[in-house]
Amino acid sequence: MHKRALTKGIFALSFPLAAMIGTAQAAAPELAEEEMERANNIYFQRCAGCHGTTRNGATGPNLLPETTQELGQRRLESIITLGTEGGMNNFDGILSEDDITLISKYIQHDPVDPPEMSLADMKERWKVFVEPEDLPTEPQHDLNWENFMVTILRDRGAMGIIDADTKELVTEVETGYAVHVAKESSDGRFWYVQGRDGRLSKIDLWMDPPQVTAEVFIGYDARDVAVSHYGEWKDKYVIGGSYWPPHFVIADAESMEPLKVVSTRSYDTEGNFRNEARVAALYNTPHAPTFLVNVKESGQVWQVDYSDIDNLRIDQMETAEYLHDGFFDPTGRYFQIAANMSDKMVFIDTETRKLVSMLETGVKPHPGPGANWVDPECGPVAGTTHLGEGLLTFWGNDPEGHPDQAWQICDQIETDGPGLFV
Ligand code: HEC
Repeated sequence: MHKRALTKGIFALSFPLAAMIGTAQAAAPELAEEEMERANNIYFQRCAGCHGTTRNGATGPNLLPETTQELGQRRLESIITLGTEGGMNNFDGILSEDDITLISKYIQHDPVDPPEMSLADMKERWKVFVEPEDLPTEPQHDLNWENFMVTILRDRGAMGIIDADTKELVTEVETGYAVHVAKESSDGRFWYVQGRDGRLSKIDLWMDPPQVTAEVFIGYDARDVAVSHYGEWKDKYVIGGSYWPPHFVIADAESMEPLKVVSTRSYDTEGNFRNEARVAALYNTPHAPTFLVNVKESGQVWQVDYSDIDNLRIDQMETAEYLHDGFFDPTGRYFQIAANMSDKMVFIDTETRKLVSMLETGVKPHPGPGANWVDPECGPVAGTTHLGEGLLTFWGNDPEGHPDQAWQICDQIETDGPGLFV
């Protein structure tokens, strides 16, 4: 029943609505079935990223009926319209007044678990537009594809391919909605882009014009993607990470056929079960045939070995909650990732597949792509900005050459306000 409805549109997530209305608390304002469906779409598009797919809270607090009914319709409408100083967006001018009224009613109902997604569900929606053997053996146009820019057209659900030589738009390629991340094959010819709606598309820059050659949906709400680049597995696998269902999927990088799905539901560092343990960031490791899978709510970095996916080896490193953005040191051996709710940076050695250290850097570190440079006193260092304060912190990251500075704060610089990227 879901599967059919799911193909309808970008965020037309369709849950068993009758069941949902049946379980809604008596105190919640009434909603007709179409209203419920519209509210569902608004919730998943606009709110779930911060309040969680199951409404149990993430960056923002839970929106369960106990809380929302207590606040009541008028107060809810005003919070959603005006936002708060504590980080709640204001939706005035983004959602219509009717939609604000609707979503305020909706969040007073019981949340329903969104549906699961099996490998068979993924296979059913997997599409090959150009068979791998029919792909061109040389570029089909005279443009300098090695100097193309692949740009996210967020609300269009497309990627803009721009020729950086001429600054002209080559084409717009239809992809998932609000692509979050794009990663390339080792020669830069193919681009793998992960839409928030779960659609993972493969783009070939050699085609005239560049186009999607295959796609697969790996979840209902997804964020990141990575491609295997190591040794004989170069360009063999692509991994997609999903917020809901909380899992990662390994697909054939040639055909995009989904091969393996692994749930990330697990226990956090204090031993609490996390049903919504979302996959934040994914990376290929330059020094081992592995992907790094960073699970937000469980505070675990999983190093997933792709050299034998039938006997999948996963090294699970217990670090700190909520893992977010990360980056490698210049050697590509060490991985440095923010655990934003713990105010820490976490350091992983991808050769030994172990946690090497954690460092408190400031309130909510957020490096974005991060930066590595050489400091005259500390030697090689890396830094992060912070969402919670105006501070740039940098630490030594050369344990071989500068063991005394490694994973220790080298210096901190105050900035005019909180920072998102360095
Ligand atoms: C960018 C992240 C973000 C998004 C998107 C977002 N919220 Fe929030 N929301 C927050 C944060 C953070 C708070 C806590 C604010 C505070 O404490 O001042 C919050 C608070 C709230 C509250 C008050 C809860 C309470 O217990 O006081 C409601 C209601 C709410 N959000 C509803 C929504 C709805 C509905 C949407 C979608 C239309 C939405 N939020 C989208 C981050 C977000």
